[in-house]
Amino acid sequence: MKRMLAGAVAVLALGSFSLALAQDGAAVYKAKCMPCHGPEGKGSAMAPAMVGNEYVKAATDQELTDVIVKGREGAAKKYKQYAIGMPAQKLTDEETKAVIAYMKDLAK
Ligand code: HEC
Repeated sequence: MKRMLAGAVAVLALGSFSLALAQDGAAVYKAKCMPCHGPEGKGSAMAPAMVGNEYVKAATDQELTDVIVKGREGAAKKYKQYAIGMPAQKLTDEETKAVIAYMKDLAK
């Protein structure tokens, strides 16, 4: 019983920990974007870099939100060198805002 209680407390603590991290753009990026856009936004064979990215630098928050929430595939796709398009991401509004701030930081 004592063991179970300790387990429950640990799960609760972990839950609020990941909630706090979700507000953090870098953490959102790491969890949801890094597999394609590379560590620290440096890009990969699958997707463009965020570091120094002219589009990210110039785009409004609304334009970036659209790319993230709706994705950019098919006719909307811009880069020929990447085999895949950008799949629509399921993020909360807070996560989207946080990750946009993080991307803007990487791009400048
Ligand atoms: C499955 C791989 C994948 C994941 C995961 C992914 N992206 Fe992308 N993303 C792409 C690809 C591929 C492109 C380029 C699409 C094109 O050709 O226009 C792209 C393009 C973008 C662009 C436009 C960049 C430009 O130069 O025009 C932004 C902004 C972006 N992604 C943000 C994100 C964010 C933020 C996340 C995480 C929440 C994310 N992406 C997750 C594959 C991915």
